[in-house]
Amino acid sequence: MAGRRDGSLMRDKTQSFRGSRIVTAIVVGVLLGSVCAFFFPRGFFSLDPPIQGRRFGKLDLQTSSSQCESTERINMLRSDIGSLSDKNDELKKQVQDLTEKLRLAEQGKDHAREQFSVLGKPHKAGPPGTVKGLRTNPTVIPDDSVNPRLAKILEDVTVQKELIVALANSNVKAMLEIWFTSIKRVGITNYLVVGLDDEIEEFCIANDVPVYKRDPDEGIDSIAKTGGNHAVSGLKFRILREFLQLGYSVLLSDVDIVYLQNPFNHLYRDSDVESMSDGHNNMTAYGFNDVFDEPSMGWARYAHTMRIWVYNSGFFYIRPTLPSIELLDRVAGRLSKEKAWDQAVFNEELFFPSHPGYDGLHASKRTMDFYLFMNSKVLFKTVRKDANLKKLKPVILHVNYHPDKLPRMKAIMEFYVNGKQDALEPFPEGSQW
Ligand SMILES: *[C@@H]1O[C@H](CO)[C@@H](O)[C@H](O)[C@H]1NC(C)=O
Repeated sequence: MAGRRDGSLMRDKTQSFRGSRIVTAIVVGVLLGSVCAFFFPRGFFSLDPPIQGRRFGKLDLQTSSSQCESTERINMLRSDIGSLSDKNDELKKQVQDLTEKLRLAEQGKDHAREQFSVLGKPHKAGPPGTVKGLRTNPTVIPDDSVNPRLAKILEDVTVQKELIVALANSNVKAMLEIWFTSIKRVGITNYLVVGLDDEIEEFCIANDVPVYKRDPDEGIDSIAKTGGNHAVSGLKFRILREFLQLGYSVLLSDVDIVYLQNPFNHLYRDSDVESMSDGHNNMTAYGFNDVFDEPSMGWARYAHTMRIWVYNSGFFYIRPTLPSIELLDRVAGRLSKEKAWDQAVFNEELFFPSHPGYDGLHASKRTMDFYLFMNSKVLFKTVRKDANLKKLKPVILHVNYHPDKLPRMKAIMEFYVNGKQDALEPFPEGSQW
């Protein structure tokens, strides 16, 4: 009973409370309403851009820029597909190399289509094993206005929008001769020498080698004549940029390289940068877990590190994409400011991740097969001593590990082209300083 009484008492109190509460609520409501009407005359949900911008600025900007970016990418891919089909029509008219070119064209088209389907609509992640991130970035829209004269030359020289490019001045004339002789021998037509002086230009013309001499009044070219090795290395990345801007993929080649097969038949073309390695076996060329031992740490004495031998900046295939062009700009920019080795800078920019105060480059990369794209350490340390490996026919040989380049290049020609079995024997494994 007591409980009930108490209960009814409570009810009475509650009712009188409720009455005054309703009055308070109405007053508060009216006050709030007028305050809101004053501060938000157009209502809470109006799409007033300044207010939205202020409140959600960061988020909105990100969304709209990524939407914008993917529309841009789709457009680029559309034009890719378009230009590839145009190219196809053009090719059908050509009798020479018809089937091979078509095959390559189809390859490229598939890449573009694949890209389009990945970027075109949002995807749910499929089951494990079916999901693949993007490594083949869309190509840039060609811009002939960058260098109309070069654009004209490239129209004639390139095959499937790609070519081999080498920079040369008259100091490397003898090596250049072996270089283009080996290239012609395997039937490659899409190559170009960027001649850095008159002598080399004349030499190329005399030998029926496609050559492109820069206009002397172009600022960066004064480096070509007076600059040392490293200045010329910086120049290489600036010149390369124009080729990419014009929409071409470039197989950049030093001249201390002998061609034994056509490299264009051995590329994957799925990454921004596909490069030969300075490594000499599976681990060093393709990467490995290098355990660092610090015994004083006791239980945690082993620290695992990632290692890979550097990419060779004297032989790499680079696709005309934004990350590729960004790479060239970063390397050229740093070489103009620092006294640094271009190959070290090239690798640092490619591989170091983003970290506080630094945005890493997000370019996709692929290491070439080190037996097909062989450096001279692999040849002189391993291959020439191994009966099975000796039978293997590399695509190119780069005499990058030895200073006596010219005689070694000649010996490589003797061995692989003329079948002279002992041609490689006289040379020591490493240089004797
Ligand atoms: C190196 O890797 C290839 C495959 O990538 C494999 O066939 C070969 O056996 C490996 N060589 C050695 C010495 O492990």
